[in-house]
Amino acid sequence: MKTLKYLFERNFIWSKSVRKREPVFFKNLSKQQAPEYLWIGCSDSRVPANQIVNLPPGEVFVHRNIANVVVHTDLNCLSVIQYAVEVLKVKHIIICGHYGCGGITAALENHEHGLIDNWLRHIKDVIRFNEEQFTGLEHQAKLDLLCELNVKEQVTNVCNTTIVQNAWKQGRKLSVHGWIYNIDNGILKDLESGIASDVMPENEQDD
Ligand code: CO
Repeated sequence: MKTLKYLFERNFIWSKSVRKREPVFFKNLSKQQAPEYLWIGCSDSRVPANQIVNLPPGEVFVHRNIANVVVHTDLNCLSVIQYAVEVLKVKHIIICGHYGCGGITAALENHEHGLIDNWLRHIKDVIRFNEEQFTGLEHQAKLDLLCELNVKEQVTNVCNTTIVQNAWKQGRKLSVHGWIYNIDNGILKDLESGIASDVMPENEQDD
């Protein structure tokens, strides 16, 4: 029994239109992938990596989870980073958060959600690390700030992985970027918290 027939129909139409535009597109892509970017983003259905940056299949290696968190012991995320950096040799790692993130909202509020509360604990830590920045803010401003601070925290976490540290020690050109996406207007913003290997002080690169 073929379920979700509607989606298979949509897939066929899409595949046909791509092949019509570029007959060898899938044939070429099936031989190899050589993306320049690793995207670490939120699972939110409104934040699809390729569409946001308007890139076709083959251009972005993607990892998504709730609230785009990079946990030091998350083998899933670390495996993605390792494969992207060491095998695919991506040049950029983009951590992309978004305003209006449900995970961020849940972390700021104190309702119980079950298992996911353990995941959200990492975002609660971000509040704890930056407590003074939240004092006196309205609820919405707190939410927006936490969305941004969470991205910055995850940029630090990615930079601190042995994978990225080793790539930099080897002199590899690899940049880590912190971005935020506005679901109200579809616009991306660079939080300018990123770190590029070529701007790292020499003693930090070599030790
Ligand atoms: Co989200």
